Formats: sequence, C-alpha cells, structure tokens
Amino acid sequence: MTTTTAGNVSRSGDPAQAGPADSPFVRACRRLPVPHTPVWFMRQAGRSLPEYRDLRAGVAMLESCRRPELVREITLQPVRRHGVDAAILFSDIVVPVAAAGVDLEIVPGTGPVVAEPVRDAADVSRIRPIGPDDLSFVDEAVRLLVADLGDTPLIGFAGAPFTLASYLVEGGPSRNHVKTKALMYGAPEVWHALCDRLAEITGEFLRVQVDAGASAVQLFDSWAGALSEADYRRFVLPHSARVLAGLADAGVPRIHFGVGTAELLGAMGEAGADVVGVDWRTPLDAATVRIGPDKAVQGNLDPCVLFAPWSVIETEVRRILAEGESTPGHVFNLGHGVLPETDPDVLTRVVALVHEASAR
Ligand code: CP3
Repeated sequence: MTTTTAGNVSRSGDPAQAGPADSPFVRACRRLPVPHTPVWFMRQAGRSLPEYRDLRAGVAMLESCRRPELVREITLQPVRRHGVDAAILFSDIVVPVAAAGVDLEIVPGTGPVVAEPVRDAADVSRIRPIGPDDLSFVDEAVRLLVADLGDTPLIGFAGAPFTLASYLVEGGPSRNHVKTKALMYGAPEVWHALCDRLAEITGEFLRVQVDAGASAVQLFDSWAGALSEADYRRFVLPHSARVLAGLADAGVPRIHFGVGTAELLGAMGEAGADVVGVDWRTPLDAATVRIGPDKAVQGNLDPCVLFAPWSVIETEVRRILAEGESTPGHVFNLGHGVLPETDPDVLTRVVALVHEASAR
C-alpha cells in the first residue's frame, strides 16, 4: 500500500493498473481473472476500531453521516488499517429516508428508531421524494473519498425497500416483522405505494453515489430472509428490481445481499444483481448452483468465527476460498457485518491470509 502526501491510500503503485475499474474487487464482481481473491468486510468501519470510537465521541450517528470530512476519515480507517480491497462509504441505510423528512434517530445498541411509524396511505404520502440537493453531503463525501482512494474502489450502498419498510412500519428493529407483514398482506396497495416511494428514494441515494465516483454499489436487503420465496417474489422483488434496473446504465457492479436468504438466492439474483451476497449458512459452491453461472458471489465467513482460535479461523477462511473456486467470481467477505466486539487485529490477519492463500 502506498501513501502520498495527499493522504492517498491507493493499494497499488503500478502505473499500468487502470484505476479502480481494473481493481481485483471490480474484476471479481465482473467474473474476470484476478491476481488474488479480493476481500472487504461489511461494517468494516465502526465500533471494532478504537480510532472510530475516538472520532465518533460526542457526535450522533446521523449527524456524523452528514459531515463529509468525518465520513472521509471514518471510511478510510479500515482501508489503512486492514489493507482491504475496497472501501465502503460510511453512512447508513436510513440516511436518505431521513433526508426525505422522516423523523428518525439511530439509537446506539438498538438501531434506527422512527418517531411516527407508517401505518396507512396518508403516512406514505408524507414521505416526500428526494433529489440531489437533499444529498449534497453524500456527493461531497464520495468525491473526497474517490480522490483519496486512488486505485482502491469505493462501494456505495443503500437499503432495499423491504428492509427500509420494516424499520418504517415497525418503528424500529424487529424480530418477526409482524406489523410489516400485516401491512403487506392486509393492505397490499399501501404496501406497494410505500415500497414504490422507498425504491425512488433508494435509487436517488445510489445515483448520487455513482455519479460522484463510487465503483460499485451494494443493495442491502438485510431482513429479506424473513420472507418465503413466493412472498418475496410478489411483494419485494419488483421494487428491488426497479432500484437495480435504475443503475443498469451506470456501468458499475451491483451487489445484492440479505441474511437468512438460502431459499431466496436465485430470486435475489434475478432482481438484477451482478453479485449475490451469501450469509454463512449456505456454502458458496451450493449457493452458486442456486444463483446461476452468470453472477459472482460474495461472502461468507460467520462473523462469530472471528472469536475462535486462529487455527479455526484459518481453516474456515481456507474452506471458503476453496468453495469460492467453483463460483464464476468470488469476493471474500463475512456472512454479515463485523460485530463491535471483534478484535481488529484478527480482521487484518484474515485479509493477509485471503491474499496469500488465493494468490495466483
Ligand atoms: O459497512 C460499513 O462499514 C459502512 C457503513 C454502514 C453502516 N450501516 C454504519 C453504521 C452500512 C453499510 C450500514 C448499513 C445498515 N444500517 C444496514 C444494512 C447492513 C446490515 O447490517 O444488515 C442496516 C440494517 C442498518 C441499520 C442500522 N444502523 C443498525 C442495525 C445499526 C446498529 C445499531 C447498534 O448500535 O448496534 C445502525 C447503526 C450503525 N450504522 C453503526 C454504524 C457504524 C453503529 C453506530 C455507532 O457507532 O454508534
């Protein structure tokens, strides 16, 4: 990794490398040959890093997402420390929803909490559409980052309509998504109107990030695994597909991820992903059979394995790399986000092991 006076944390000093579009991460997403399997971690920026906790002291989560200089620094921290193959923008899935006028807060240890949960058509109509002016802080942060990152790609991201709707309807995090499903089954026209609006908002959030220079996007449908495949196809897929189709002309890989989605992997790919994120429950070789040969996969180390002895971690990393060999393209990641209690030195060691063990 090279560091320039401008704070550049580009991973390669090789002038022949043609920028982030030719990086191992983007190439793996496109199912092209790579010098090593690329690796990054969902939630790589955050409470596992002491330097993050220092920077965030006294600044509320949503407020920190609106300060471009702070976003730049927090996003770069794990790239510098771990040498991962991609940065992911420090933000949150509810940032564009807050920009659309929804009164919400991100409560530490809980997650997003909405002051007035969405219950009916009138509530939906109060969520206004957003435009680039509502997200100028995102545009600025991405531009700062792309200048600093050099050849290292920046991943933009957004929450998919179902996962966002779950927070808005439940009013906060939920185990069973009871109110969400009650709305979906009981008032499908309100449900579809809500998801239509969320698809527009999420599409705008992604568009701003890509226009400012993000090299890939990930659409998080974290809680989609709560649904049967039939319900996913009927109530969710069309809305996520609209978001992903809206970026078809952008020329950047689109990653689609959820947790507990073994039964949905094929459908999530069909929603318009170039890469399907897989949690730790499904081996990557089995996942790729469900997803099909025209998509890469991302995953899938259980984040809890990082708390096991190193010999166990090493065995698991090597197993996942071997299973990744039988897929058309593999981006190494965890099966869900880094847990706050994770020892960051273990993450650094995993990056080095992935690079060394997969070098070709
Ligand atoms: O991955 C990254 O490093 C980029 C940053 C990122 C954050 N949130 C920062 C964050 C990303 C990609 C997200 C997405 C997100 N946010 C998702 C989808 C991914 C997933 O985990 O399934 C979801 C469901 C949310 C909603 C949300 N925001 C939750 C559940 C929480 C955790 C609450 C807690 O304190 O345990 C948040 C807050 C949040 N988002 C934090 C970070 C770093 C922690 C805030 C803090 O440090 O106080």
